[in-house]
Amino acid sequence: MAFKELVFSGVQPTGNLHLGNYLGAIVKFVALQQSYDCIYCVVDLHAITVWQDPAELPRAIREVTAAFLACGIDPKKHIVFNQSQVSGHAELAWIFNCVARLGWLNRMTQFKEKAGKDRENASVGLYAYPNLMAADILLYRATHVPVGEDQKQHVELARDIAQKFNNDFGASIRAHGFGDAFFPLPEPVITGEATRVMSLRDGAKKMSKSDPSDYSRINLTDDADAIAQKIRKAKTDPEPLPSEEAGLKSRPEADNLVGIYAALAGTTRAGVLKEFGNAQFSTFKTALVDLSVASLGPIGV
Ligand code: AQP
Repeated sequence: MAFKELVFSGVQPTGNLHLGNYLGAIVKFVALQQSYDCIYCVVDLHAITVWQDPAELPRAIREVTAAFLACGIDPKKHIVFNQSQVSGHAELAWIFNCVARLGWLNRMTQFKEKAGKDRENASVGLYAYPNLMAADILLYRATHVPVGEDQKQHVELARDIAQKFNNDFGASIRAHGFGDAFFPLPEPVITGEATRVMSLRDGAKKMSKSDPSDYSRINLTDDADAIAQKIRKAKTDPEPLPSEEAGLKSRPEADNLVGIYAALAGTTRAGVLKEFGNAQFSTFKTALVDLSVASLGPIGV
């Protein structure tokens, strides 16, 4: 059976959205609206896999929804909704808990990172999170899933779950007239120059809402002064920028800032280095501040 092309993705209401969420996911959500039917979801059931203050969560859900709209998602043409308002997500997740194998979940790097050393004390929900994500996508038989690089493994797991379900229930699926497959195998859409935006304080760490240092990230709600201050303080190395992309290898902080510039300007790392090759970071950072404020300023207003 040929599946209708459909985009699905979600964002957790777990704190301020940052430049990583924006460039890794939301910019693509906006662009895909031109060519596909899209469903975008504020995934609060994912958020509660770690502790959330019940008094704060409704505000965070509204804030992420507001950020979606401010970034250019059009709820008149596409669907924007809150995950917990549709009970099918939790219901299908249970079915997938019975399809996915423990060995598959044991390989998920995000669980290992988030549970850390206190694994025994992590919630069962945090462990089973990828099954719920598979349910989010497959409930709508979505075919394309725009995400940052960090979510690639989870979308691949959703494909494995869809494939196993199609195989295990093949006879019944055919008998009910669904052809050979009840679920499509969803494709991760991970494109562009900023699929994994790194912390401004440490080029080896992902930019993340939960990093204790606010200087590690640019929030979509930051004003021009805050954006400028964070970029000026961003960690760099003492060398000027290289003129070729190969020169960014083993310079994670430089690579990150050049990648951010490229993504915001709609160009490539090579294009940025053509303009800023051999420039000092002070010059490049001034240009990056101007570009970031021009791009993000209207969203925060
Ligand atoms: N640093 C990043 N670079 C590129 N893409 C990123 N995404 C997140 N961080 C980066 C993408 O943003 C979408 C929404 O993410 P999420 O909020 O649902 O979950 P997350 O990946 O757990 O985000 P954080 O900021 O890292 O939150 P915490 O600190 O709570 O774990 C996803 O498509 C994600 O890939």
